[in-house]
Amino acid sequence: METQAFRKDVEQFRGLFKEDAVETAKNSVRFERRGAVGVLVLDLVGEKANKLSTPIMLRLAEVLLEISNDTSVKALVLISRKPTIFIAGADISEISKMTSGEMKPEVLMKLQGVHTFLEELKIPSIAAIHGACMGGGTELALSCDYRMASDAPETRIGLPEVMLGIIPGWGGTQRLPRLIGLEKSLDLILSGRAVDGKSAKKMGLVDKVLPKEYLEEKAMAWAAELAQSGKKRDKTAQLSGLSVEKIPGGKWIIFDQAKKKLLEKTKGNYPAPEKALEVIRKTYGGKLQEGLKVEAEAFADLLVTPQSKNLIQVFYLTERVKKDKGVGSQVVAKTIETTAVLGAGLMGGGIAQLFAAKGLRVRMRDISWDAVTRGYKAAYKIFQKLVDRRKMKRSELDNKMALIEGTTAMTGFGSVDLVVEAVVEDLAIKQKVFAELDSLTKPEAILCSNTSSLSITSIASQCKHPQRVVGMHFFSPVDRMPLVEVIRGEKSSDEAVSTVFQLSKKVGKTPILVKDSPGFLVNRILGPYLNEAVYLLVEGVRPTVIDDAMVKFGMPMGPCELLDEVGLDVAAKVSKVLFGAFGARMKPPSLMELVVTEKRLGKKTGKGIYEWNGKEKIEDSKLTAKIQTGKASIENTTEMIQKRMTYLMVNEGARCLQEGIVRDAGEVDIGMIFGTGFAPFRGGLLRYADSVGASNIVADLDVFAAKIGERFAPSDALKEMAASGKKYFN
Ligand SMILES: NC(=O)c1ccc[n+]([C@@H]2O[C@H](COP(=O)([O-])OP(=O)(O)OC[C@H]3O[C@@H](n4cnc5c(N)ncnc54)[C@H](O)[C@@H]3O)[C@@H](O)[C@H]2O)c1
Repeated sequence: METQAFRKDVEQFRGLFKEDAVETAKNSVRFERRGAVGVLVLDLVGEKANKLSTPIMLRLAEVLLEISNDTSVKALVLISRKPTIFIAGADISEISKMTSGEMKPEVLMKLQGVHTFLEELKIPSIAAIHGACMGGGTELALSCDYRMASDAPETRIGLPEVMLGIIPGWGGTQRLPRLIGLEKSLDLILSGRAVDGKSAKKMGLVDKVLPKEYLEEKAMAWAAELAQSGKKRDKTAQLSGLSVEKIPGGKWIIFDQAKKKLLEKTKGNYPAPEKALEVIRKTYGGKLQEGLKVEAEAFADLLVTPQSKNLIQVFYLTERVKKDKGVGSQVVAKTIETTAVLGAGLMGGGIAQLFAAKGLRVRMRDISWDAVTRGYKAAYKIFQKLVDRRKMKRSELDNKMALIEGTTAMTGFGSVDLVVEAVVEDLAIKQKVFAELDSLTKPEAILCSNTSSLSITSIASQCKHPQRVVGMHFFSPVDRMPLVEVIRGEKSSDEAVSTVFQLSKKVGKTPILVKDSPGFLVNRILGPYLNEAVYLLVEGVRPTVIDDAMVKFGMPMGPCELLDEVGLDVAAKVSKVLFGAFGARMKPPSLMELVVTEKRLGKKTGKGIYEWNGKEKIEDSKLTAKIQTGKASIENTTEMIQKRMTYLMVNEGARCLQEGIVRDAGEVDIGMIFGTGFAPFRGGLLRYADSVGASNIVADLDVFAAKIGERFAPSDALKEMAASGKKYFN
């Protein structure tokens, strides 16, 4: 890239920013000299993470210009001073300004020039990566000649842009495939997944991997050698190793397969990875500058898509959770080191595994050794899977398992900091267990219940210290479902709530604060949705038709499959509780009972709504014929099925918000995305409601209420929203 033109671009941009932003950027990107080696130190002032905002990129540009003029600098090292972050990526607030039209995408696209200028420096450069290296950070590293990474677990390298509905816009779609080949780069770019240092080395994304303690020293030593030799990377070198892309026509096979795999996963709901694939297909093997242009145009096209706006909104909501303490007061959460889990069943075993995985000691109690063994086995199985996938060493598995201590006695609870109860869903049993825990544990220990439908206030009613009782509602399977509903009972203290909030985050979950009310948030909203799937079955709609419609809508699995997964007995129990609490609109179809009495309990009995042959589901025509008792009063097209199912959820979500079940609309959306997988590209349940318009939903619900059943009657909360013309999110 021509220096003069680049300098002109930089000058032009500088005028856009206030003095103080320019000054902060100067202090955030420092240039240091160590003999013939120049070191670019990234350490954003006042921020935990290094982010590439426009002022920071301009500062980088200025330093690079300086370097290009200084012939005494013979090699360059890029390094971060943040303890767990190399560069977290581009500044998302600028990207969202672009999606809203406040900032022109051209600004970001012009900044592609900084990467090109770095790449074209006459001297060799090394990115020394420790900590998160994402998006724009990875693109900066890719513009260096060489990369080295630490083998620390916090080092993760990736291009996660598709998760925000966009594609890498600073050369990622161009430089990564050129460096590591098509197959591996498509895997990373289309999924947005990140890899650790060792995997990065294996795929050729970094040249060296080493312990973080030596990273800087070795980077400096390597740079000193390069300063002597002046050796830039040979970009014309052929990819090493075997690859389909080397056989004639192999490239096209890779593209076709990638597209097929992608569409199977996204159902066409996510334009960004499709666009990334298209860009790479169009540009791979061509000239870099032309490829960069195609990439930039595609980036700008994607920025304005609703999917990108929605995914960025979800990103912000999750960032908000990271800062949320669950309480308004300044109380300090307790540090939890030792825990106990009561009940070693499906949930208890999963919770014990999760705690042990995060290094917490767990005393796991059940009433029989058989049950304790089952809990152990369940935990072991999850760890073993990680070992099989090479995500954990065998020795680590042993160490983690050693943190779980099984018992059938109610002993050894005196020293634990926190207990999670996951025994059978029965109020009398839970009350008895809590009264016992209340006397056996130290008074400051926190007592949690994983109940899915019982009141935390009632569970705590037999305790002398009910202020330390809180709901900690995990979702099944515990190792995979990210949400935890933290339920505040009438007497729960701020300290107890904030401790459970913090612990949830510590073990890698996303907590939301929920009021102690039947079904809490997620199951209450999901209840009518699952009921409706069964009503549709009764009307003669085939389960695969219902499931396909909802998967197409963006749910991770259809409701019939979900019912089989959860277990129809469990679902029937929850729907009964909801019916008891909320009346007619939650009345479960009688079919729910029938399947339970016929022992069609779902996957666990090999038969539910579907018949199960391992993971394969088979539609059972006998069941379909048997259960079709009703007659559809409305034509159940795909669109109609989607409306019936989702509008019921919106209606209930609106009620939850009005009743203060959660604090705001963002929490409804986080709950539904992380608790049920509700289509993230739609931004969440209430954001989806905004996109359809409350008045349109109310109008449809009125029609459904008249034609199908009263359960569809629009709630006051939704009607008020429609009348006001407001939206849940501005
Ligand atoms: N299954 C789910 O999807 C799910 C999801 C979220 C929450 N929950 C809730 O988690 C709890 C447990 O559910 P589960 O599915 O793991 O049930 P489960 O039947 O698999 O396990 C319950 C275990 O508790 C044991 N138990 C009974 N009384 C006990 C006692 N006094 N002390 C110790 N152990 C005792 C039983 O022997 C059994 O092993 C319930 O409250 C349930 O509502 C379940």
